[in-house]
Amino acid sequence: MQSESRKTVGTATLIELQQMASERKLFLQKVISVRHWTNGLFSFCIERPEGFRFRSGEFVMIGLKDGTKPLLRAYSIVSPNWEEHLEFFSVKVPEGPLTSRLQHLQVGDHLFLSKKPTGTLVIDALKPGKRLFMVGTGTGLAPFLSVLRDLETHEKFEEIVITHTVRQEQELAYRRFLETEIHDDEVFGDLLRDRFTYYPTVTREEFKNKGRITDRIRRGAFAEDLGLVGNRFNAETARVMVCGSLAFNSDMASMLNEHGLVEGSNAAPGGFVVERAFVG
Ligand code: A2P
Repeated sequence: MQSESRKTVGTATLIELQQMASERKLFLQKVISVRHWTNGLFSFCIERPEGFRFRSGEFVMIGLKDGTKPLLRAYSIVSPNWEEHLEFFSVKVPEGPLTSRLQHLQVGDHLFLSKKPTGTLVIDALKPGKRLFMVGTGTGLAPFLSVLRDLETHEKFEEIVITHTVRQEQELAYRRFLETEIHDDEVFGDLLRDRFTYYPTVTREEFKNKGRITDRIRRGAFAEDLGLVGNRFNAETARVMVCGSLAFNSDMASMLNEHGLVEGSNAAPGGFVVERAFVG
């Protein structure tokens, strides 16, 4: 039987990986679970290093050994900042340098993790408001799952809405969690009752909310479904986080600008914040 230190991880031994991690000032963390949603989407959890702090909604670099160097990509952390492990949500791109390998992760494998999480999809980058809308496509849902489970979010906002737009219904990862499981949670069940709306939309097959979220907002269907007054975001009370593809982010940002909201950042909090979802 191989000893732990001789066990191969991909093509590298654990000792080689540890050496590379320490040279590059990276953590090397063990994979503790993997969940495949579809042929193109999966999630995984790694152990959280002691002393690794982040703000809910931030992203971090993670990756694998690629020849003589680490191959790292930005990933939003799905876990809230109090969670013991770190969860990530990823696409599987057959030709993607990292995800083509990452999709074969097994429990017990090891991943590099950078030491400095960062990002703008954080509550601190938004001015105080009443309703928080988190609007995303594909894996852009990831940071919202973190922000939703941070108590600070609930201290700052009276209502929270998460929208998730995907091509096909089966790509609505975390749907059961957002529709049911979180409502049964000891802490969040009570906290979210009557204050949280999960609003999935599907663009390429029949679904109760069919179409791009941007179109549904413009047409007034979103406001109608949520019982909101008017089909514009209220610049005084609405705060928005946007996370998806470049095209989606820029469409949403233009629309929000038209509605009178100003983009914020860590240095200058505003009405909305934008970040690009990891694309492979
Ligand atoms: P659509 O099917 O109409 O392209 P992708 O898989 O390409 O990243 O897209 C994920 C989801 O985001 C799809 O449902 C897609 O809708 C939607 N989407 C892509 N671009 C935009 C955009 N500019 N505005 C709104 N939704 C978008």
